Amino acid sequence: MEQQLEALRGAALDEISAAADDASLEAARVKFLGQSGAVTLLSKGMRDVAAADKPRVGKLLNEVRTAVTVALDERRAALLAARDAAALGATDATLPATPRTLGTLHPMTQLMDRVVQIFRRMGFALADGPDIETEWHCFDALNTPPDHPARNEQDTFYLPDGRLLRTHTSTVQIRTMEASAPPIRIIAPGAAYRRDEIDATHLAQFTQMEGLYVDNSVTVGDLKGTIEFFFRELLGPDAQFRFRPHFFPFTEPSFEVDVKSTALGAADRWLEIAGCGMVDPAVFAAVNARRGDQAFDPEKYTGFAFGFGLDRLAMIMSGVPDIRLFTDNDQRFLAQFP
Ligand code: PHE
Repeated sequence: MEQQLEALRGAALDEISAAADDASLEAARVKFLGQSGAVTLLSKGMRDVAAADKPRVGKLLNEVRTAVTVALDERRAALLAARDAAALGATDATLPATPRTLGTLHPMTQLMDRVVQIFRRMGFALADGPDIETEWHCFDALNTPPDHPARNEQDTFYLPDGRLLRTHTSTVQIRTMEASAPPIRIIAPGAAYRRDEIDATHLAQFTQMEGLYVDNSVTVGDLKGTIEFFFRELLGPDAQFRFRPHFFPFTEPSFEVDVKSTALGAADRWLEIAGCGMVDPAVFAAVNARRGDQAFDPEKYTGFAFGFGLDRLAMIMSGVPDIRLFTDNDQRFLAQFP
């Protein structure tokens, strides 16, 4: 019995250390320690051992069982370590990782965020509308006659079904008034589209910021105060303003706003920066007709609207010489605006 146990220990340890994979190791475990394994079978023979020999033989049996168990565990761990090492191959896991650069907001987005923040402080809420618009929202409701040049197929992207890519964000004035009654105080940043020749200062898609304020007794003074406050917040207190009479079909009177400011590169140069005016009563009438009520009674309410492009502002304020850089998606450009 003792000889058998010694022989078994030797055979088991040899077989375990020779096991080249998990499957052969498991086969060895079953062969020696399994329910009808060699060690198990031998331990049944303890019954026939003479009483005097039992303690010695029993001790040896336990030693053998422990030795085989330990050898199995060690071999299993060694196989696992070898597998990990093979998987890692030549990789040195202690080397520093490839640095991942954190993205930044697009310069246009950064400007838009600042603009929105300033208007929010004045109580303007965000509004929006679709880029694909009806002619009615883009032109008719804005008092723009059928023969107006803005409607020209040469200048505007029409879809086969008669809708079009909005040529300005003033469409959101109409959408907002259709959906809610006065008082209204909204801004609407978004894309606008025109069939422009693409060059360093023109893209077929650009970004506008629209504003609309309708309430009791809104005046030109409110309009000028709002515009001037906004641009002074954005550009600095040295900004100077000029409101030039202009024409827009949907405002009366209308103005173009020129600004002089060091933040715009030259303190001695007027820059045409925005269009604005008092909402034309014809616009209220169009909205009322569509709504089927008199929510925008021109005898009770007045309002102002304004709109300006963000692209040129962003270009001047960030020193970007070519508008196409904004849409090229070149990391080397974008990374310069942390
Ligand atoms: N929608 C006009 C434009 O694109 C700007 C504007 C907006 C003018 C609101 C007056 C009032 O040129």
